[in-house]
Amino acid sequence: MKRKMKLDPWGAVDIKDYSKLFDEFGISPFEDVLPDVPNPHPYMRRHIIFGHRDYHLILNAMKSGAPFAVMSGFMPSGRVHLGHKMVMDEIIWHQQMGAQTFFAVADMEAHSVRNVSWKECAEVGKDYILSLIALGFQPDGHIYFQSKSPIVRDLAFEIGVEANLSELSAIYGFSGETHISHILSTLVQSADILHPQLSKFGGPKPVVIPVGADQDPHIRLTRDVANRMRMFKVEARKGHISIRAKIANKAAMHDIAGRIDGKIKTYAEHVDVYGNADIDKIASIVREVEIEHGGYGFYPPASTYHRFMSGLTGGKMSSAIPDSIIGLTESPDVAAAKVKKAKTGGKVTLVEQRRSGGEPQNCTVYELLLFHLIEDDKHIAEVYNECKEGKRTCGKCKALAAELMVKFLKGHQAGRERAKERLDRYGLKI
Ligand code: TRP
Ligand code: SF4
Repeated sequence: MKRKMKLDPWGAVDIKDYSKLFDEFGISPFEDVLPDVPNPHPYMRRHIIFGHRDYHLILNAMKSGAPFAVMSGFMPSGRVHLGHKMVMDEIIWHQQMGAQTFFAVADMEAHSVRNVSWKECAEVGKDYILSLIALGFQPDGHIYFQSKSPIVRDLAFEIGVEANLSELSAIYGFSGETHISHILSTLVQSADILHPQLSKFGGPKPVVIPVGADQDPHIRLTRDVANRMRMFKVEARKGHISIRAKIANKAAMHDIAGRIDGKIKTYAEHVDVYGNADIDKIASIVREVEIEHGGYGFYPPASTYHRFMSGLTGGKMSSAIPDSIIGLTESPDVAAAKVKKAKTGGKVTLVEQRRSGGEPQNCTVYELLLFHLIEDDKHIAEVYNECKEGKRTCGKCKALAAELMVKFLKGHQAGRERAKERLDRYGLKI
């Protein structure tokens, strides 16, 4: 099948029709799992997080108290802004829900893909970390720089044993001119995603990666590689569950057979389990044995995908257009001025607006309120409805958004100052 859409994690973001992602890439609608999420984040309730892979595994763990983790990260390039805040909020929410938590500063990626010097990677990385902490990241989480994590770098090498150049080229569009370290950085990123499942961190568990939809190619690659790194495959077949070894391993097969109750048939390279055996239980026995025999037992990573905010000037957010973006370290007054200039979904004249209403769905000021500034669902619904009914003026929304933005930035920047004094609690000396 020829793909009509291409998601390019390093290119410009222009994803017009998110629903295509469901069909073409196998991302599931988040709505399907939403009713099962305890105390969902506003991004979830408001369908800003619109898609997922395997999120039910995360929900099951949350409910049963089994271990699970959240992991995500950024290339340290450019200033930290509201787009980064979204991923940070999602990480922190999962941390509050009991996840073991990991945040990567992707300095190897920034250095190889964007030519950012190591010195600048360190400075910009610290800038991101301060915002992450100010937003509520707790010290029991792990914050690390890729280049300073031997465990991640070693795992990247090991992943390279399973991944080959033609598949990476098919996913990322690499060519003969692509620099080797750029290619390597994709393996480092897969290692970021999988390393929470290493024994140092308690072994295999479901891990969710909250990202923007442009990052899905990394997730797909990592899911494939995670499966390939398994020693065994457990599958439901008609009338039985089949456990197969990729490479014949008599001793491990014997161990597996010994731990399963019920009716089994043992062959040289596989075991079949009959009766109504619980596949999850069998999968976990197989993982256990796999690890005892030197394997990884990885779960393919789960993921969530959020919509991007538009730039305040309309179109995309772009650091080349300063008025399109609000930085988390920007002066609150400058930010307020940007809000007041922002593109709205209002009509050309007030008379027209009163008569036919505005378009909150095409309004960057509304997006600011929806994504970041108004917590209360009733309040945001009121803004939406008043706008639609022509009972609201854009001036009123802009004044509200500017006021809330100033308040948020002042609080956030004070939080960043406090975070500077507490970096050692996070195991960071920067
Ligand atoms: N590639 C991501 C970016 O462009 C950064 C990143 C590195 C990442 N490792 C990750 C994201 C692991 C999610 C999970 O910013
Ligand atoms: Fe946007 Fe508010 Fe104007 Fe509606 S009234 S278009 S929500 S700024």
